[in-house]
Amino acid sequence: MNQLSTLHHPDLFVQERFPRASAYDTDWVIAHEMGPNVLWLTEFLCEAMELRPGMRVLDLGCGKALSSIFLAREFGLQVWAVDLWVTATENARRIHAADLDDRVFPLHADARQLPFAEEFFDAIISVDAFEYFGTDVYFLPGLIKLLKPHGQIGVVNAGLRHEVEQLPDEWPDDFCAFHTVDWWRRHWAITRRVAVETADDLPHSRDLWLYWHRLTGAVDDAYLTSPAGENLTFHRLVARRVH
Ligand SMILES: C[S@@+](CC[C@H](N)C(=O)[O-])C[C@H]1O[C@@H](n2cnc3c(N)ncnc32)[C@H](O)[C@@H]1O
Repeated sequence: MNQLSTLHHPDLFVQERFPRASAYDTDWVIAHEMGPNVLWLTEFLCEAMELRPGMRVLDLGCGKALSSIFLAREFGLQVWAVDLWVTATENARRIHAADLDDRVFPLHADARQLPFAEEFFDAIISVDAFEYFGTDVYFLPGLIKLLKPHGQIGVVNAGLRHEVEQLPDEWPDDFCAFHTVDWWRRHWAITRRVAVETADDLPHSRDLWLYWHRLTGAVDDAYLTSPAGENLTFHRLVARRVH
């Protein structure tokens, strides 16, 4: 794994970089993974957000609700765990096993048709999912109505360090929704609904992604190990509703 050029001691690096996520059982995360370690990404995102106990938070595209469980446990939040591909029943079982029935509420819904009242949430987060629905410029203005005035929205995604004109051969088709963090910043700011507060890349993203593949035994990772993989990164955007 010579691509792990900058992480000489990845275990130690991960423990120091993600102290909260590292307290969780790695086998549990691997058993429910739908992408690169969701708890690392969620911890990275939360560092840039103001989260206080009791807040109502929407976890949009929560997958198997690991990020929702993490948010409730780590920050004492009430979390509405919304996903399209994973059923509410399946997530309810996981939430029950985590003893969080009273604070994490699973829902099967499409991000484009959410059944919530306007201004219901104190914060909205989305981990490794926003690119599936958020590239539509009309999406954010609709979503932001669910957020209280001056509430924060935070997203962490896989994305690009530089925009590309065509997809490298090694990349799957769904990477066509990947963009740079500057692309996302403009995409949000131009709506005039939010003020972007944070837009940055996670340092050592590719090394962390490769390290995750090593832990999970992923074999089909030419998209990451090829030279084109150097253009892949994780980034976060945090913005505040302005009106
Ligand atoms: C790569 S998975 C990541 C899941 C989870 N956040 C994680 O990191 O483990 C992307 C998630 O986006 C969700 N998703 C995609 N399109 C969606 C939509 N239109 N509405 C709600 N969720 C959607 C899928 O159901 C899937 O769980």
